[in-house]
Amino acid sequence: MQTLCIDIGGTGIKAIVLDAAGQPRGERLRVLTPRPATPEAVLAAMEEPLAGLGEFDRVAVGFPGVVVDGVTRTAPNLDPAWQGFPLAARLTERTGKPVRVANDAGVQGLAVIEGTGVELVLTLGTGMGFALYTSGHYVPNIEMGHHIFRGRRTYEDRVGEPARARVGNKRWRRRVLQVIAALAPVFNYRVLYIGGGNARLLDPAELPENVRVVDNVAGLLGGLKLWA
Ligand code: BGC
Repeated sequence: MQTLCIDIGGTGIKAIVLDAAGQPRGERLRVLTPRPATPEAVLAAMEEPLAGLGEFDRVAVGFPGVVVDGVTRTAPNLDPAWQGFPLAARLTERTGKPVRVANDAGVQGLAVIEGTGVELVLTLGTGMGFALYTSGHYVPNIEMGHHIFRGRRTYEDRVGEPARARVGNKRWRRRVLQVIAALAPVFNYRVLYIGGGNARLLDPAELPENVRVVDNVAGLLGGLKLWA
């Protein structure tokens, strides 16, 4: 059983085929997210992974927005045209294979959580992803990134990639610590995992003891768990 795992991001679209044990079959592919990132443009950009990564039996997609029953509802860092787009159905039409789609942070967490107590995932990339799990069960589509953090600014405004590029890594790291300090007394999580392309810019020594930085490749590996 081979699973084509795709992680659609604001900057890049990553893909890999994994076997049932989670071992990669062949290379990992990354293509740039087209701009404007409309559904049709992103589907066109996905042709390379769909056609070039060899055989697969099913597809798992992490999507950077709200997803309900395979239909995308929002995509703040892609394009407004994703509202109400039947992504799973369109990919099934294209591949002839069953397709599951979920929020990218939710998928990422499936690869790293331990499955006990309350676990939280933040992804720091173009946007800020958030996922909550209780005893291993994912609570979908909590969009903490768009919650007000300070003044009129949201969490994502403060720690998304445009903010990091503007204020520099040092101030951005301080902001991430403020985000953690705001979430900790609200969610009382056992563990918080931080992934996403910018997680590697954090200094693990600065983080509270129940906060762990995880490899961004989890965004792909979690796809297998979507089918578990
Ligand atoms: C979206 C989330 C997504 C995050 C990371 C946010 O802007 O609203 O759904 O998980 O970006 O891609």
